Amino acid sequence: MILANENYSKIQASYLFTEIAHRVKAYQEANPAAKVIRLGIGDVTEPLAPAVIKAMHRAVDDQAKRETFRGYGPEQGYAFLRDAIAENDFRRRGVNVSADEIFVSDGAKCDTANIQELFGKDIVIGVPDPVYPVYVDTNVMAGRTGKAKHGRYGKLVYLDCTAKNGFVASPPKGVKLDLIYLCYPNNPTGAVATKRQLRAWVDYAKANKALILFDAAYEAFIRTPGIPHSIYEIPGARKCAIEFRSFSKTAGFTGTRCGYIVVPKGLCAYTKKGECVELRPMWTRRHTTKFNGCSYITQRGAEAVYSREGAKQTKATIDFYLKNAKLVRDALTRLGYTVTGGTDSPYLWVGVKGDSWKFFDKLLREAQVVTTPGAGFGRDGEGFIRISAFNSRENILEAIERFKKVL
Ligand code: MLT
Repeated sequence: MILANENYSKIQASYLFTEIAHRVKAYQEANPAAKVIRLGIGDVTEPLAPAVIKAMHRAVDDQAKRETFRGYGPEQGYAFLRDAIAENDFRRRGVNVSADEIFVSDGAKCDTANIQELFGKDIVIGVPDPVYPVYVDTNVMAGRTGKAKHGRYGKLVYLDCTAKNGFVASPPKGVKLDLIYLCYPNNPTGAVATKRQLRAWVDYAKANKALILFDAAYEAFIRTPGIPHSIYEIPGARKCAIEFRSFSKTAGFTGTRCGYIVVPKGLCAYTKKGECVELRPMWTRRHTTKFNGCSYITQRGAEAVYSREGAKQTKATIDFYLKNAKLVRDALTRLGYTVTGGTDSPYLWVGVKGDSWKFFDKLLREAQVVTTPGAGFGRDGEGFIRISAFNSRENILEAIERFKKVL
């Protein structure tokens, strides 16, 4: 008899964005004339940068000729892309990361979901609340949690991120975490962590032989000087952190798919006896066994993000989304709402003083605007909605007009 993985039955609801998509579909079917504006899932709307498109066209032509055709590539990514990443995302910022510590993938969602395979079952995991649901759900599926009660899974340690701490949790006192998920700029709150705040986590991780999983998918949106773009800007982080990056939001690759992780040399997990097991060879083994590499064409496109033209064009697109965020932020503030995020992040975290699913439904029904209810990100997300700034200017301005009418 084939036995099911019963951990799946502990999962509370369908994946948040799938649930939202269902509700929107039902609404749209019942109201076919409604022009729905989607500010829910953080999906980009602007086309890829011309430099990226040009590089991808060239790569397609490479695939058309025997002399330049590529079959399977290196699972970890082509050297041309790993070198460009190491140079531009790290060395240029004075951060020590080498190309052979970088593993190219098809995106940060898969990487943040898959990484937990490297760790033992009986570990204490700290997750922020609110949280990107993938961190939690994948550990539920793997059997590292108890059942859910009042919106929280047993065994997980929830790190409250509330207005009180500026949505940035500090390391817990008297609790020994083994694995810590951090995400800055934060999804969903849009908060950023300062060097001092990240240093506290690195010091904590080192003192406890813990590992930080640092999701920096929204790094390119940081504009405030002094805010770290990488966990490796913090001394000692190479000894206790893995970093996740993505071209999805940085360069509009949500549909094109490319991301990477950094696993520094010498970074350890431990056996029960306390012996170091190096994570980089483990991840190499996992990645080469289960993944056949991101496509050549996509990697050529990603490489072009670092060209002079590509960097200029992708930055202009991010500036465009940040302007969207500012417009929504200013409008909602004028309407009397408390808004955080949106300055170093594409996400606005809006206090709605009540049930977030109800507020979501109200905005969908009365304004035909899709948002994301904060409760979907965890108990501490209740009372908030997340608004994504990824959309055309026309739609953002239209959404603001509708907000003015119904809020
Ligand atoms: C989000 O809206 O939180 C993200 O777009 C989801 C994702 O990156 O998987």
